[in-house]
Amino acid sequence: MFITLEGPEGSGKTSKIPPLADFIRQKGYKVLATREPGGTAIGDQVRAILTDLANTHMTPRAEVLLFQAARAQLVEQVIRPALQAGEVVICDRYADSTLAYQGYGQGGDLEQIASLVHFATGGLKPDLTLLLDLEVEEGLRRKQINGVEWNRLDAYALAYHQRVRQGYLELAQKEPERWVIVDASQPPDAVQSNLCQIVAERLAVKNGSSRGS
Ligand code: TYD
Repeated sequence: MFITLEGPEGSGKTSKIPPLADFIRQKGYKVLATREPGGTAIGDQVRAILTDLANTHMTPRAEVLLFQAARAQLVEQVIRPALQAGEVVICDRYADSTLAYQGYGQGGDLEQIASLVHFATGGLKPDLTLLLDLEVEEGLRRKQINGVEWNRLDAYALAYHQRVRQGYLELAQKEPERWVIVDASQPPDAVQSNLCQIVAERLAVKNGSSRGS
């Protein structure tokens, strides 16, 4: 089973993944947790280019392609082999980030971007996408308060981040069977237990259906 976590800046995705992975392991599954951009040595080098504050002159086309380069490497080298070995894969951001940020956020052509994403992933889609939804102002405030490193991609304008959030909500609406929206403004423990509960339900359904087939 392939699970992705998505959300705007400061939604707290990243800190929720290790406890979620432990929760799934306790149920007897082997779990692989990874992240985008990055997750491989090549992907981490691409990530450094994408986040470098000195790269202010990066064009939107270059940006979207760099994200796909890191993704293609991660899918082939890490995600597909783990799924083929029967593991549960949890990825901190995936293809929907490109649609939300480079598509809705930057106003790129959604169809073109979707076909680039399809090329990069070879069509691999998550079984479940958890959207940690949060007001944009609150997310950016959290990120600054927590002293998290501020990178080139965070420095985009507020209106951009608002389009990203709306984009996520629209994507979730288009594929309600894949997406579950979690209210990330709740206390962290509540968000964590929501995530565990949703994943536990999906795993139970998946097991039920594989026994039946
Ligand atoms: P990161 O520091 O990992 O942020 P976060 O903790 O919010 O995930 O930086 C990833 C940044 O890259 C984040 O601003 C979202 C952005 N991004 C895209 O714009 N497009 C993409 O396809 C991906 C994977 C990430």
